[in-house]
Amino acid sequence: MGMRNTTTEWGSLSKALHWIIAIGIFALIYLGLQQDDMESGDARSRVRFIHASIATVVLFLMTVRIVWRFMNDAPGHPDGMAPVQKLVATLVHWGLYITVFAQLFAGAMIMGTAGRGLPLFGFLTIPLPIGESDDAHEFWEEVHEIVWIPLAVLVVVHILGAVYNHFVLKNDVLRRMTHGVK
Ligand code: HEM
Ligand code: HEM
Repeated sequence: MGMRNTTTEWGSLSKALHWIIAIGIFALIYLGLQQDDMESGDARSRVRFIHASIATVVLFLMTVRIVWRFMNDAPGHPDGMAPVQKLVATLVHWGLYITVFAQLFAGAMIMGTAGRGLPLFGFLTIPLPIGESDDAHEFWEEVHEIVWIPLAVLVVVHILGAVYNHFVLKNDVLRRMTHGVK
């Protein structure tokens, strides 16, 4: 397995990015909801700081991922897959890219409109060229409280799709994103 994708399989870089980002997004949804249940104070600030630091890493990795996606082949849908399933799979994949980037963007705007940068676990803070504004801050908070829901729905459909391909259709779709085609 090489680093680049082929027309039949994802390369090692795409696989690594897919799974690291997936773990990151599960953690972000969990921590985001966790801090929502907490009272304001040091403990909540800490959870928010970790949430935003993980998000900064995911933003970086998603940027590498989308550039790499367009620099490469991508495996096509398996032969014989129903056209409607191909369409749904393609829509879910691009829907995931769009909702993930929208959620990242809204999160970054929450920080920027509060006059803050993107944190990275205390090692550094990446400044954002955005003016402070209470109204804009509240707007992006509302966007951020909504967009994760369609994102989470798409993730559930996506996982059901992977399970369906693997166990019902018994094709290589899950294998080509994990340890490789047979
Ligand atoms: C894919 C990326 C992300 C996901 C899935 C995600 C998820 C979430 C969720 C589920 C919440 C709770 C929303 C609620 O209270 O109903 C939240 C809150 C929050 N997130 Fe994110 N987030 C992401 C990216 C970011 C980024 C990039 C930042 C900033 C660097 C960020 C900063 C925040 C902040 C400050 C809050 C609390 C704001 C509020 O209470 O409205 N998030 N996030
Ligand atoms: C937050 C979690 C996840 C996100 C955001 C996500 C996102 C994506 C995206 C955008 C693609 C399309 C790649 C492209 O065409 O460039 C993809 C492919 C894939 N994902 Fe996920 N994924 C997540 C979790 C999972 C999980 C948990 C599984 C397995 C149960 C999974 C299985 C797959 C498989 C098998 C493919 C390859 C599909 C193909 O080759 O046609 N993903 N994922």
